Amino acid sequence: MKILIINGANLNMLGNREPKYYGNQTLDAINQEIKTKTENLNIETEFFQSNHEGEIINAIQKAKCDGIILNAGAFTHYSYAIHDAITSVDIPVIEVHLSNLHKREEFRHKSVLAKACVGQIAGFGKYSYILALEYFAMKD
Ligand code: DQA
Repeated sequence: MKILIINGANLNMLGNREPKYYGNQTLDAINQEIKTKTENLNIETEFFQSNHEGEIINAIQKAKCDGIILNAGAFTHYSYAIHDAITSVDIPVIEVHLSNLHKREEFRHKSVLAKACVGQIAGFGKYSYILALEYFAMKD
């Protein structure tokens, strides 16, 4: 099974960016840890990050995999174009967030992507990605 993990806007800044919400690890370190911690799940992982909405749309359209784990960053809250990219492909997508959106500013409480996704996992830091991978590994 192959899973594509897409990170969107500003997630390349992890390590420096608002550590109280996102921790101190860089995105590369988190990706490496996800790989190590999920070795036993028999899943091939591929990672992609972009700050550009169109590149995220292209990555979803071109994806050749069994599932996508998507942290779209702030695009989550307003990108109908990413919503439509998700509904355009026949690949299950899980929306993930490091932080608990509901403990934060009002504008983060709404996801325009959630409706197009299998489900949403938020608030577990890097474990949000790992929980999503476990779902893909364990579902029938
Ligand atoms: C985030 C939450 C978003 O509201 C924010 O814009 C991000 C990160 C998270 O992982 O908690 O960039 O998606």
